[in-house]
Amino acid sequence: MAGLSRRIFVLGGLGAASATTLSTVAAAASPYPFKLGIASGEPAPDGVVLWTRLAPSPLNSDGLGGMTSADVEVEWQVATDDRFAKVVATGKTTARRDEAHSVHVEVGGLPADADFFYRFRAQGHISAVGRTRTAPALTAVGRDLIMAMCSCSAWQDGYFTAYRRLAEDRPGLVLHLGDYIYEGGAGKGPRRHVGGEIMDLAAYRRRYAQYKTDPDLQAAHAVAPWLVVPDDHEVENNYAGLVPQNSNDNDIFAARRAAAYRAYWENMPLRKEQKYTATGIPLYRRVRWGKLANFHMLDTRQFRANQACGDGWQNCKDADLDTRSILDTLKSGARPQEQWLLDGLAEKTATWDFLGQQVFFARRLGPDGKSSMDGWDGYRASRARIQAGFVERGIRNPIVLTGDVHKAWGNDLKNDYRDPGSAVIGTELVTTSIASGGDGDDITTVPDQSTNPHLKFHSRRRGYIRNPITAGQVRTDFRTVDKVTEHGAPVKTAGSFVIADGKPGLQKA
Ligand SMILES: [Fe+2]
Repeated sequence: MAGLSRRIFVLGGLGAASATTLSTVAAAASPYPFKLGIASGEPAPDGVVLWTRLAPSPLNSDGLGGMTSADVEVEWQVATDDRFAKVVATGKTTARRDEAHSVHVEVGGLPADADFFYRFRAQGHISAVGRTRTAPALTAVGRDLIMAMCSCSAWQDGYFTAYRRLAEDRPGLVLHLGDYIYEGGAGKGPRRHVGGEIMDLAAYRRRYAQYKTDPDLQAAHAVAPWLVVPDDHEVENNYAGLVPQNSNDNDIFAARRAAAYRAYWENMPLRKEQKYTATGIPLYRRVRWGKLANFHMLDTRQFRANQACGDGWQNCKDADLDTRSILDTLKSGARPQEQWLLDGLAEKTATWDFLGQQVFFARRLGPDGKSSMDGWDGYRASRARIQAGFVERGIRNPIVLTGDVHKAWGNDLKNDYRDPGSAVIGTELVTTSIASGGDGDDITTVPDQSTNPHLKFHSRRRGYIRNPITAGQVRTDFRTVDKVTEHGAPVKTAGSFVIADGKPGLQKA
């Protein structure tokens, strides 16, 4: 071999790592393959998923990142320290060309409710080091948890400073609620997408690769395990099931959607259980965080009925139809995802029930009485069934987590939105975008407050939400940055609330 190389990339805050074991054999002949970073996800009491994808030339137009057709062996290590002095699990896996040289290692056998560090080696190079965490045992409340949530990270609209600030908050779990990539062409913002609108597998793969070269995004992945669900832009704006936004050709869209779902799985730290199939992707799932919390991760895109009254903001009677669901394609009257959610809530295994999902859940009326047909306002029977489920099953602390709208909101959920005196039966936290929409502005007045008295907080800046969670309360800090069109803005807290155990709704912190 021509020479030895030690390639250790250490991200901010993770400390210095030495290559105690993995660097003993190193070949410098091949270019560094870990340019897309590393990630972990899907924490369980005994393990997590470790992810990476080999791509020495991330922007190659074939979407294969400069890899040859050969499959490549990848070694992985998990340690209790960031210097890898105490390695507790190690193994080998294969990065297959068929999966764009991604790996999804399902590590098991780890102790519950503990922190770990991980890294990979392939082709003589060592990856960055990531920090991850296992969930508490199902019978334990476990340590307090800081959960951070984010969505809508449009590369072409701005820099990912909010991801960097999120990482600096050192959360123990990160939820990404969709629009991790955007499908459009170059864009007009401070930086550009490579290539035009993405339509096929190669283009989706290359788009993920471009996003994943971002060091701020890599830092956010490296700090904690993620739970992810896609929204529309991972495929196409405002699609519904197999109905595209802009084309009448459903066959072409079916192929496009299949390519998009495949690239999503390849690029996310998901289990094999979530792997794409010929017709879809089995994404909705439940992740238990001991007796502290359940995360019910929903899919409001893949199975929904088409938007009522032609989409957009409408005053639309069809939005009330009992036969339309945002969670299901109705088959002989059955609604499998709605039923799965209600059954899971009824188990009552944890203090907090979080519904990790994509689109605005609470009623929100415009000044003319119109509402958005793309959110739950366009599927009001679905919302009524879920909310009735909260009440009938006596769900103590339901909290809906939302992305999509590029603005932050804090909402009380009401039994009857028409009656201001009606009981508060749950809470909704809506995270603003990481970058989508550019800098935003300083307006914090809740729009149309008189018709929406249950909407308690509003911000139009970019950022994320930080939620320190204990058995007694969920604290919510709306974190914002004033600029994303330039890199490196500081973060501030634009508003803080608490949700107390047994008392749904937002109280000023
Ligand atoms: Fe978005």
